[in-house]
Amino acid sequence: MDSIRVQGTAPLQGKVKIQGSKNAALPILAASLLMEGQVLLENVPKISDVYGMLHILEELGCHVRWERELLRVDSRRAKLGGISAELAKSMRSSIFLLGPMLSRFHEVTMEYPGGCVIGKRPIDLHLEALRRMGVQFVDENGQLRASVKALHPAALELPFPSVGATENVIMAAVKTEGVTLLRGAAREPEVQVLCEFLNSCGASILGIGTNFLRIEGVKHLRETRFRIPSDRIVAGTYLLAGFSCGGSMFLEEAPLRHMEAVCSVAQKMGATLTVSENGIYAQFPERAGELPLVRTNIYPGFPTDLQSVLLAVRCTGRGKTLVQENIFENRFRIIDELKKMGACFRMVNEREVEVTGVPKLLGASMEARELRGGAALVVAALGAKGESRISGRRFIDRGYENICRDLRELGARIVSE
Ligand code: EPZ
Repeated sequence: MDSIRVQGTAPLQGKVKIQGSKNAALPILAASLLMEGQVLLENVPKISDVYGMLHILEELGCHVRWERELLRVDSRRAKLGGISAELAKSMRSSIFLLGPMLSRFHEVTMEYPGGCVIGKRPIDLHLEALRRMGVQFVDENGQLRASVKALHPAALELPFPSVGATENVIMAAVKTEGVTLLRGAAREPEVQVLCEFLNSCGASILGIGTNFLRIEGVKHLRETRFRIPSDRIVAGTYLLAGFSCGGSMFLEEAPLRHMEAVCSVAQKMGATLTVSENGIYAQFPERAGELPLVRTNIYPGFPTDLQSVLLAVRCTGRGKTLVQENIFENRFRIIDELKKMGACFRMVNEREVEVTGVPKLLGASMEARELRGGAALVVAALGAKGESRISGRRFIDRGYENICRDLRELGARIVSE
């Protein structure tokens, strides 16, 4: 089956090791096409979006091999080829292949990456920036066909710091002779890590971590070994889960320096956080304290990917909370599911919802329809009275290696079925 069963649990207690970052690993895997040689990657999360990306790379002729915890990707024999429709549609992150494939093959045909439950997910910013580097796009029988005689450098500015568009420009520019400037670049940690990875292969990227990047094209990128950092969204999911039923936990290898916003919100809600060199120890109040307002924002603001999980824990927090979603246009879909547990919401407008905390939620049968919303339903079920069943585990498996195993290590009564 494709579901998760949760027995409303006593206070959490335990430690869990945080997996590698999905959103750092995916663009780095796409960037392996830029190498003449192989990349050795440590700590790549074993999640379905990674398996999908590896499948696409193999379809393009790359040799992929897991060697226990090490992933070896050799793109020397990669050749221009189509990207299978069902893979491209099922995985938005196939859009990250635009930059590296244009750099290496000067053309690529792919399905338009689908939108999803959380929003239309347009790619206009990707296309506009790449057009400025000489790329032509045509619609070919409903597929996106991109081609370029030779990429040329450009002085670019993104009107919105799109993570994916920033990453595509970086990958298109790193081997394009000359200097490409990118203003309005996204500063998310995953963008920083992509730049660090590419520089470790010999790229020349300056301004890492700022919204102004200077990328000087180099002729070759050499083999490298690189460790994917821990996943700040998975760590934040488990940190916020502690408010669902109280207790304490140790999040081993949590990437603290990329978690300021979620740690600050956790402290506001009454958690006590103790930082050690290899993680965060968190102690939780019996009930989450007042949190009148939270706004999602680009990094380093509160991450949109944790908005659903925060919404779930606010269902039993003290007082009212106004949650403002400023990044995606449709990221409140789980409200209907949480209402099945007795949660109390008032939609203010399509970007704002007010949640009024109730003492306890009741277990219910719910349906996950997307990755982070699914994780939020699991978090809500942890503290609910009685048993909950969440269908659509496949969505959660896209980003969490094994949410049931991880939460069981924290003392939750949860099984996948
Ligand atoms: C990345 O998506 C992440 N995915 C998302 O995580 C994350 O929520 C998002 O960045 C924001 O941090 C990966 O890294 C694989 P954007 P991305 O381009 O690159 C609009 C998860 O759960 N936009 O920064 O698609 C867009 O519609 C996922 O792990 C345009 O209008 O995000 C959205 O409203 C969900 N035109 C906003 O910008 C464009 O060309 C942010 O999108 C591109 C984006």
